[in-house]
Amino acid sequence: MAGKHSHKPRSLPAAWRFIGPIFKRCRWRITAGILALLTVDLCQLVVPRIIKWAVDGLRNHTVDGSQLRNYAALIMLLALTVAVLRFMWRYLILGFSRLLEQDIRDALFHHLLSLDSAFFQRRSPGQLIALATNDLTSVQMACGMGLIAAIDALLMSFAAISCMAYIDLRLTLLAILPFPVLAVTTRILASRLHRHFKRVQEQFSLLTEEARGAINNIRLLKIYTREAAQCAQFDITGRSYIKHSLKVAKIQGVLFPASGFIANISLLIIVFFGGRMVISGTISIGGFVAFISYLFMLTWPMMALGWVSNLFQRGLTSLARIQEVMDERPLLQPVTAGRKIGRPDIISLRHLTFAYPGQERPRLKDINLDIRPGLLGIVGRTGSGKSTLCALLARLYPVEQGQLFINKLDVNDIDLNSCRRLLSFVPQSAALFSTTIARNIAFGAPETGRKEIEAAARAAAIHHEIMAFPKGYETEIGERGVLLSGGQQQRIALARALLLRAPILLIDDALAAVDAEAEAMIMAHIMAYAEENMVIMVTNRLSPLRQARQIAVLDKGRLTALGRHRELIAVSEIYRGIYAHQEFGNNKAELKNSADHLSNPACRRSYAA
Ligand SMILES: Nc1ncnc2c1ncn2[C@@H]1O[C@H](COP(=O)(O)OP(=O)(O)OP(=O)(O)O)[C@@H](O)[C@H]1O
Ligand SMILES: [Mg+2]
Repeated sequence: MAGKHSHKPRSLPAAWRFIGPIFKRCRWRITAGILALLTVDLCQLVVPRIIKWAVDGLRNHTVDGSQLRNYAALIMLLALTVAVLRFMWRYLILGFSRLLEQDIRDALFHHLLSLDSAFFQRRSPGQLIALATNDLTSVQMACGMGLIAAIDALLMSFAAISCMAYIDLRLTLLAILPFPVLAVTTRILASRLHRHFKRVQEQFSLLTEEARGAINNIRLLKIYTREAAQCAQFDITGRSYIKHSLKVAKIQGVLFPASGFIANISLLIIVFFGGRMVISGTISIGGFVAFISYLFMLTWPMMALGWVSNLFQRGLTSLARIQEVMDERPLLQPVTAGRKIGRPDIISLRHLTFAYPGQERPRLKDINLDIRPGLLGIVGRTGSGKSTLCALLARLYPVEQGQLFINKLDVNDIDLNSCRRLLSFVPQSAALFSTTIARNIAFGAPETGRKEIEAAARAAAIHHEIMAFPKGYETEIGERGVLLSGGQQQRIALARALLLRAPILLIDDALAAVDAEAEAMIMAHIMAYAEENMVIMVTNRLSPLRQARQIAVLDKGRLTALGRHRELIAVSEIYRGIYAHQEFGNNKAELKNSADHLSNPACRRSYAA
């Protein structure tokens, strides 16, 4: 869960290593934006000086109407320049922050696709979505508005203080006296703000996850009549989200008025002391008016500094979360320098032992097996490790050196993608995309023509059913294939694998929902295919395996028997058990014969050998 991961902001250099290159690439855009911003600030600083000249001129009767018009025209010109340049910097810098967001999002997505299932078991989709939305927005805000506000605030405060000091140094020192208090207050409030903001993001990811889970399992929810309970749970999480959001709003609500209040104390000081200075003639009225204008200019940057520090902190925290994922490495590093491999003649398992990452207990133990072209069946009770074995053959998890070989080459020395391309895999649960049937079948080779797609569908005994849909192969199958029956989904997943005509075809119990007639058609195709290729078929329906070259029986992660159907009936209790359950009634005679056969001592000896 979210709480397990540390979200400490990383050091600035670490953050810079990550986003620095994007800044470097956009350096001209950023420079132009900052220049526009600086010019805006400069123009703004000139205005009070013009007001000073005008006020002092009016008081001393040294300006006439045409000069006043000139001052007014100058102020207009400055205002116009400010308007144009403000648009420029917003366009340039905020545009940069969007480019940065896009770059990080792309990098994140690219990286996520390189990670393997072990990672996705640890991180929920909700967490990952929050990363790509909330966290990314924080980073974008820090690098866009944050950057602008920081530069603006620093520059404006420095310039305004300088201009004030130019009018009168003592008055300036008095006026900025409350500002350290302002800085400390904003700092404290900003850190509180940050703490609650973190909670808000965690709650948001929880909310997303709950909504996703409920929508994905809507049927289940209805059947178990859990809608009300689910709504109540959603409401609780929502309330917690709002509670923290309100805290954030409350602190923000305090932060800005408190900053404003402290800044107003400065105004009080100026009116009091500055007014006396005007009376005593130490400063002119124009200088006094300009001084107050500068003070107003100073208030925003001082508040902004507090806000910006918070924005940066948020951005850094979010960036740390993103970097944490970016630092994840796939368990299976693609051995790009590894050997490419051609058509496989033999896959050898040598004392293959495997435990899932982070687990002690091995799920496969000491398996020795040679797989050659032809049909290999894998049977075993539920949880015996059949799917685990498939996952290892499909190179989804790391295998120790010296345990799995293709053509006598250790798989760890073979280029990962070249290895995976040897194989097409029909997983146990048919995973389909919410697009058309044709695109689902052609997923592994999108450029495939309709003819091949149809041939694959025929081989999977689904062509006629597809043609019966009004839109045929162009039928949209809905979110994860909900518009299809279970058996149809399985056969489309099978067609997708058959289309690739890979030399190794791995089918993990993927025909369980297919009826006997369709199964017979599919098996006819598979048997023909197995004449030249390796077909590894996990199933607990034994009828298709009668023709298999070999059948491996797994039990609690061990290979307990290997042989053909008739042999296994005689020697493997587990196999016999599965067989008896399935074909009870039809095959009593066969079972009895086998038992008689086994009770014959000569026969027992031959199996033992
Ligand atoms: N991703 C995983 N992480 C950790 N343990 C797992 C994982 N997948 C499976 N297991 C465990 O490994 C063991 C073997 O599971 P596996 O899925 O290989 O069984 P199976 O023979 O395919 O069963 P079934 O016939 O029900 O499909 C089980 O005890 C299971 O709990
Ligand atoms: Mg399984």
